[in-house]
Amino acid sequence: MALSTTVFTNISQLVTVATESGRNTGIAMNNIGVIDNAVMIAGEKVEWIGTAEEYHTVKDELHTRFTNYNTLDIGGKCVIPGFVDSHTHVVFAGNRSGEFARRLQGVSYQQIASEGGGILSTMRAVRNATVDELYETGKALALSAMRYGTTSMEIKSGYGLSLDAELNQLRAIKRLKEELPLRITATFLGAHDFPPEYADNRDGYVDTVINEMLPRVADEQLAVYCDVFCDTGYYTLEQSQRILESAAALGLRVKVHADELSAFGAAGLAASLGAVSADHLLFVSDTDIDALKEAGTVAALLPGTAYTLRLPYAPARRMIESGATVALATDCNPGSCFMENMQQVLSLACMNMKMSIEEAITAATLHGAAALNMNASCGSLTKGYNADFLVLDTPHYADLVYHFGVNHVEQVWIDGVRRV
Ligand code: NIG
Ligand code: FE
Repeated sequence: MALSTTVFTNISQLVTVATESGRNTGIAMNNIGVIDNAVMIAGEKVEWIGTAEEYHTVKDELHTRFTNYNTLDIGGKCVIPGFVDSHTHVVFAGNRSGEFARRLQGVSYQQIASEGGGILSTMRAVRNATVDELYETGKALALSAMRYGTTSMEIKSGYGLSLDAELNQLRAIKRLKEELPLRITATFLGAHDFPPEYADNRDGYVDTVINEMLPRVADEQLAVYCDVFCDTGYYTLEQSQRILESAAALGLRVKVHADELSAFGAAGLAASLGAVSADHLLFVSDTDIDALKEAGTVAALLPGTAYTLRLPYAPARRMIESGATVALATDCNPGSCFMENMQQVLSLACMNMKMSIEEAITAATLHGAAALNMNASCGSLTKGYNADFLVLDTPHYADLVYHFGVNHVEQVWIDGVRRV
């Protein structure tokens, strides 16, 4: 379908998150490239951006270039890049609200897990679910996320913990990718927990992941990434390394659930393996922050999880000061953070991790894209980038965090097509 080009006029603030290298780290996280009183021309990609004044001087020349175009008056509102949520688990089954209520009565996440609840409770529900049911749960959450401004989303498996159930989850993700307007990336997380069949033979399950699951996932091209939950009580550093090296050998890129529950050294492992991202990082050491920076491994922070588990937040300031590429994501999942709203993530990041609004926007757009290796085409409103953007209900981008607890997203555009 040949897309027509649209001239978006009367944009109060166009937040471009302009970039040259695809990463605006350190102090540059604050440079979100705001153009006041802007015009943007976009089809599937961003074609031109500038001030209204500049537009009037080049208008005639531009109009000969874009013969088939419409004009849309944005009405003095603010435009920002769509959010890139680089870490979610939205394809699952079942409900763990009872567990959540117990946690608020003082029972720990680890205690519930040791009783066979937690990830294993979702595993039982996923094993009993059809691909259609998994798809429907994922669809409802992904579309809800889109209404809050998410235009790209990563989704993990990891609640099946058997070959068939993991493949079912990945097939549901594949269908979401094919049928929803969002840009969806699949991650295989077969090493999320140990299934009860292997409770006394954890290395046996690691062998199954490596010898049976990964080759099928790679063969059927069901995932771009492989992730491992490397933490106390879950996968050891050695087990994680074995799995991730096998995944890399099959052409998958690597991510790690790192240092979420304890200072485990998982971020250091991620950096040493050249992982695309290390995620969570609540307990990361200063040495490992430097290692992430050196390796270019994105530090994906998920403040909704610290909030829900009542854990200390990740040291975002130290990471930004070290020059690491800091991203923000939801971690939307039925256990540790049941929340799909990236605006809420910005709020938590600013208020509880002491990030500025501008840093949080960079982290939720361009650096989210970096965590999915898509930052050359996604996460910024720079010429040639995907026309994925949001029209807010306000002229001021700062309202996203200042006026909290409400949905500021009025329009969602993905690939130059309006979806909300
Ligand atoms: O990212 N850390 C591991 N996985 C999820 C929690 C999964 C669950 O409790 O269902 C997380 O926090
Ligand atoms: Fe997670």
